Amino acid sequence: MKTISGNPYLTKKDGALLIDNISLNELLKTYSTPFMIFLENRIRNNITTFLKVFESAFNNAQCFYSFKANFLPEICNIVQSEGLGAELIGLPELKLALKLNFPPEKIIVGGPYLPQQLIEKCVKEEVKEIVVYNLNDLVRINRIAKKHNHIQKICLRIMNQKYGAKLGIYLNQINVNKLKEITKECEHLRITTLLSHYSSQMNNSELFTKNLKVILDNAKILFNAGIKVENINLGGGFPEAAIMPENQLRELAKKIKSLINNFEFNFNSIYFEPGRYLVGDAGLLIAKIINITEDRWIFLNVGNHICPKFAKSSMRFYNASRIEEPHKFKTSIAGIIPTDQDVLAKDYFFTNDLKEGDLVVITNVGAYNLTFSNRFPYLLPNVILVKDITAINIFNPSVNHDFSIN
Ligand SMILES: Cc1ncc(COP(=O)(O)O)c(C=O)c1O
Repeated sequence: MKTISGNPYLTKKDGALLIDNISLNELLKTYSTPFMIFLENRIRNNITTFLKVFESAFNNAQCFYSFKANFLPEICNIVQSEGLGAELIGLPELKLALKLNFPPEKIIVGGPYLPQQLIEKCVKEEVKEIVVYNLNDLVRINRIAKKHNHIQKICLRIMNQKYGAKLGIYLNQINVNKLKEITKECEHLRITTLLSHYSSQMNNSELFTKNLKVILDNAKILFNAGIKVENINLGGGFPEAAIMPENQLRELAKKIKSLINNFEFNFNSIYFEPGRYLVGDAGLLIAKIINITEDRWIFLNVGNHICPKFAKSSMRFYNASRIEEPHKFKTSIAGIIPTDQDVLAKDYFFTNDLKEGDLVVITNVGAYNLTFSNRFPYLLPNVILVKDITAINIFNPSVNHDFSIN
C-alpha cells in the first residue's frame, strides 16, 4: 500500500483512499464536504516518536503539548492519555486542561497577557510554572502568591534576539538589575526556568541551535547576576512529523544534547513544548472542486477561513477522485471567500484531468488551522475523529456553534 503525503495513516488501495482503516467512500456516505478528519493513531504515533527520540537523548527531558496548536478537547484528551504535560496561554485552556485531568504539576501557563483571574487560578491550582514575558508581571504574581501563602515557580521567557523580535525579556544590564531587585523583594517567587521559542516550522537544525545558544548565554548572564536557573525550556517550532522524519529529529536531539553537555552548568530538566509536530499531520480536510477556469485555477469549497495562511501549515493537495493519476500538472487552487486573495496554492502539481465535483484531500491541517479559523459566514465543517475502523463526529456545526472554549 502506498502512503500519501508521507503519512502512514493515509494510503491508497485499489484506486481508493484509506484513512487509517476506513475508506474515504465510507465516510462520504455520512458526511458531505467540506469536513475535517483527525487521525487518533497518528497523534499517538507522533507522541511516541517524539518521546522516544528526546527521552533516549536526555534522561531529563519533559514534554508539554502546546494547546494553542489544537485545543479541541478530544485532541487534548488523547495527548493527556499519553502522559504529556500541557503548555497553555490563557484561562480557557487552563480550565480545559484541568477538566481533562492534566495534573497541575505538568501544566505550564503563561504568555504576553496574564490577567488577574488567570494568575489567581494558576496559584490556587499550583501549576508547575507561570511563564512571564514581562518583568512587571512578576510583582503582580508575587502579590497573589503571597495572598495564598504559596511559592510560585517562574519561567522567564527571554527575547530570542532574532531581527524584529518583540516577545520576552531582553536581559540587558538594566533589566538584569531590575530582575535582581524584584527577586530580592518578591519572596513568594522562585525563578526556576528560562524559555526561548524561536520560530515556527523550523526545518533546519541551525535554528534550534541558535535558540539554544540564546538560552545558554542568558543562563550565564543570570548566573553571573546571582540567579541560577534549574531548567531550560526550548519551546516548540518543530515542523509536521511527516515533514521531519524520525532520523532528522534524532540528529537534532543529538546536536542539542552536545551543546548542552558542553555548557558549563548542568540543568535538572530540559523542557520541550511541541504543538505542530504532534498534531499537524494528523489533520486532513476533505473538500471538493466547485469551479474550474480555463487557465487551470480550481476553486474548492473551503478557503482561508478554515485553512488560514496564519496557520503556516505545509498543506498538500491530492485529487482523491483520481488518486492513481500523476499529480504533475501545474494547477492553482483558490478558496471560497469572495476575494481574489483567497489563494490556497499557486502552480501546485495536480492531476491533468479536473472535473467539478472531484474530491480533494488537503493534508497537514491539524495544527493552528482551527485556532486561527475565522467567522466567515459559511457553515463550519464537521470534524471527525478516526481510529482504526471507527469514526466519531466530534464537532457538528448544526449542534455545536463554534470551536471556542471558555
Ligand atoms: C512559547 C511557545 N511554545 C510552544 C509553541 C508551539 O510551537 P509549535 O506548534 O511550532 O511547536 C509556541 C508557538 O507559538 C510558543 O510560542
